Amino acid sequence: SWTMSSFVESTVLEMRESIGEDEQVVCGLSGGIDSTVVALLLHKAIGKRLTCIFVDNGLLRLNEGEEVIGYLREHFDLNLVWVQAQDEFLDKLKGVDDPEKKRKIIGHTFIEVFDREAAKIKNVKYLAQGTLYPDVIESISFKGGPSVVIKSHHNVGGLPEKMNLSLVEPLRELFKDEVRRVAMELGLPDSIIWRHPFPGPGLAIRVIGEITAERLDILRKADKIVQNELHAADWYRKVWQGFAVLLPLKTVGVMGDGRTYEHVIALRVVDSIDAMTADWTRLPSELLARMSNRIINEVKGVNRVVFDISSKPPGTIEWE
Ligand code: XMP
Repeated sequence: SWTMSSFVESTVLEMRESIGEDEQVVCGLSGGIDSTVVALLLHKAIGKRLTCIFVDNGLLRLNEGEEVIGYLREHFDLNLVWVQAQDEFLDKLKGVDDPEKKRKIIGHTFIEVFDREAAKIKNVKYLAQGTLYPDVIESISFKGGPSVVIKSHHNVGGLPEKMNLSLVEPLRELFKDEVRRVAMELGLPDSIIWRHPFPGPGLAIRVIGEITAERLDILRKADKIVQNELHAADWYRKVWQGFAVLLPLKTVGVMGDGRTYEHVIALRVVDSIDAMTADWTRLPSELLARMSNRIINEVKGVNRVVFDISSKPPGTIEWE
């Protein structure tokens, strides 16, 4: 029968056999479970012939990268490069508010930065990616039909053609729950295994409208509260994803004797099994109240919080 330990064993063997003895593999680490699992499978297969590159694009959650990188550095003897590219990304995103343009810019900038680092590795022949089955499906444009890109996921395509690399995608046939089982098999901690999925373009597609350091900062603070409260109420693991979105409008509020005119935060919390469809989570109203009160009290510049009650379809999980 098909078990996770046999998946690990056969995948490691297969990769070890198909990757030539002098060849190097490069892998992008994102801070999430998929790329972490890919890195560990490859590390088992070829050891130090794998180089992992973590590009900090300035669009990550509070401490998202540090936690995973710290864990990997502590437990595994990996070749790991940490690139600080925050300014480069923010510069290129200046003045851009169109969602697809944001994705394209982030995708291209990622490729540029990654390419620059990967080019320093001798004999690199392969690029390892944490592509999952749903990514494969969503990226296919059907023959004959209109090639409609619903949302262009930047982690599929682009890089390999440019660098002339072959792809290694050991998770291509797996769904998220199966990746989690592989991660358990590999001994990864709960904090990585149960981390919610996080999009490649990161907070850029959750800051609706223009991305600035200041608006990112507001979102990061609000989002941290959402994460903390979901954990504290034991809801974090019950939901597929839960996060905050910063809206491009201001609304009127009242504080003390004064009128305020400040930002709105939307809460998006959904149940799903594979992200293809989703429904909004019926969170207890006390939990919603706590999140709202804390965000309005603790995050300067926010005076209103709303809760998104749309399902997918027709809504998507992300707002952009
Ligand atoms: P949507 O918004 O399409 O999201 O319902 C489905 C799942 O995909 C994630 N997502 C992305 N992931 N690059 C990614 O790597 C992207 O551009 C992207 N857009 C959405 C989203 O967080 C959800 O889990």
